Amino acid sequence: MFSLRITFPLLASLAFLLGASAWGSDYKGALYTLSQEFNQAILISALHPNGTAEFVSSFQTGGKGAGARGQDALQSSDSLLVHENLLFAVNSASDELSLFHIDPKEPWNIQQIGNNTWSGGKYPTSIAVSPDSTKACVANAGSQSYIRCFNIRETGLELMSSFRYDLELGQTDPPVGPPKTPSDLSFTADGQILFVTVKGSANASEAPAGRIELFDVSSDSVSHKSTVYAASGPGGLPFSITPIADSAAYLVTDPAGGADIIRIERDGSVSYNTSITIPGQAATCWSAYSPVTDQYFTIDLATAIITPMTINSTTLEATLLPGYNITTSSGNPGSLVDSRIAHFSDQQDYLYSLVAGDQTVRVFSLPAGSQSGIFDLVQTYELGAAYNSTGGAVGTSIEGLAVFVRTWW
Ligand SMILES: *[C@@H]1O[C@H](CO)[C@@H](O)[C@H](O)[C@H]1NC(C)=O
Ligand SMILES: *[C@@H]1O[C@H](CO)[C@@H](O)[C@H](O)[C@H]1NC(C)=O
Ligand SMILES: *[C@@H]1O[C@H](CO)[C@@H](O)[C@H](O)[C@H]1NC(C)=O
Ligand SMILES: *[C@@H]1O[C@H](CO)[C@@H](O)[C@H](O)[C@H]1NC(C)=O
Ligand SMILES: *[C@@H]1O[C@H](CO)[C@@H](O)[C@H](O)[C@H]1NC(C)=O
Ligand SMILES: *[C@@H]1O[C@H](CO)[C@@H](O)[C@H](O)[C@H]1NC(C)=O
Ligand SMILES: *[C@@H]1O[C@H](CO)[C@@H](O)[C@H](O)[C@H]1NC(C)=O
Repeated sequence: MFSLRITFPLLASLAFLLGASAWGSDYKGALYTLSQEFNQAILISALHPNGTAEFVSSFQTGGKGAGARGQDALQSSDSLLVHENLLFAVNSASDELSLFHIDPKEPWNIQQIGNNTWSGGKYPTSIAVSPDSTKACVANAGSQSYIRCFNIRETGLELMSSFRYDLELGQTDPPVGPPKTPSDLSFTADGQILFVTVKGSANASEAPAGRIELFDVSSDSVSHKSTVYAASGPGGLPFSITPIADSAAYLVTDPAGGADIIRIERDGSVSYNTSITIPGQAATCWSAYSPVTDQYFTIDLATAIITPMTINSTTLEATLLPGYNITTSSGNPGSLVDSRIAHFSDQQDYLYSLVAGDQTVRVFSLPAGSQSGIFDLVQTYELGAAYNSTGGAVGTSIEGLAVFVRTWW
């Protein structure tokens, strides 16, 4: 999963030649977040070998973030995405995408590839990249709620004009959600299917229903295949997508009740479909997987609880483990949003959970053998304050999180 391939050798070697930096070889990786100011910036932090984060710099995307839209401005997952040595970002309010090359040796150094590109619709919120790194697809959430795809070229993103699928959500600019907005999108492991989670009206007797749209992908085309419903039923709000290890199934969070598990076969048919109730949940939206502990983590924006679970890859049966209540380690911070796992070694993962409410990132250690689900908070990383100290302001919202772990240095 973290195999490193230099997609753009020319840029990589240039970055190598120019890579003189005060930031040495002591760091294990980098963490990126997106300020949602109109003057949007990617906030870049370095990761220490013990998992803690330290602010490095910011990079203006030249595009517009969501603006003053509260703590969950994008209501989606994967608005900032690392794929191999590439970093993708949405600029929601300017209907654009930005693409960067990450220097794999010094991942706190990023370099933009091409100019910002029109997202092919209005108000992009989520991005997916094909396993072979040839295509990127985006979900737009505004008045033109289109799924669009791009060929990834050395010069940047090139819109595939032949494909445009309208989610027909009847939205405004900016969109008013969370109901009736796209949440996330992903390719299957073989790259043959693209699928998109779409929140319904949240009312089982009122259209549209929460759903998952499936698309066939070939080397030169994308086309709509089918619409499927997750087990939470028509009132559902399918949200983030996390692949379940060693299976063709996906954990899909669903703030209507907890999460859904859905298995998608190679031909695009659904062979398993169930829902998981997380007791006391209010808004389970984000999720992540730790290969070291073989646990899945769901993040509840409203209760500020992270719930770990194990999922048997054969039976797809889920077992909930005791949740971690963020409020016990601080006053109620509000609005837990994007979360990612960074895989440091066979023995150690870290969970980075962005708290939009207090502009921090909570860092949890996930060492091998920690099976109980009780995990250690190693840092409350004051990201907003660190950015402020450099003269920046994240505004009312910070959303989108991605990590890069160095492999050979
Ligand atoms: C992690 O490492 C950094 C850099 O060495 C150090 O400053 C920090 O105190 C360490 N934090 C913990 C929790 O060990
Ligand atoms: C980027 O935009 C500038 C200004 O519009 C233009 O001159 C330049 O050719 C563009 N570069 C690419 C790679 O499209
Ligand atoms: C759900 O939709 C039905 C049909 O439009 C409506 O009568 C009902 O009041 C709605 N329920 C809620 C909770 O909004
Ligand atoms: C998943 O389960 C729900 C609820 O039982 C059902 O309405 C839906 O049709 C199922 N979807 C698929 C693709 O089997
Ligand atoms: C998964 O379930 C199967 C069938 O019940 C069982 O044989 C297997 O041991 C389970 N795997 C784990 C890791 O618990
Ligand atoms: C989380 O902790 C806070 C503070 O201790 C408490 O008020 C709240 O009820 C807890 N939430 C849950 C769901 O247990
Ligand atoms: C950052 O600065 C802005 C305005 O200068 C302020 O509103 C905000 O509260 C500050 N945030 C933090 C985390 O210090």
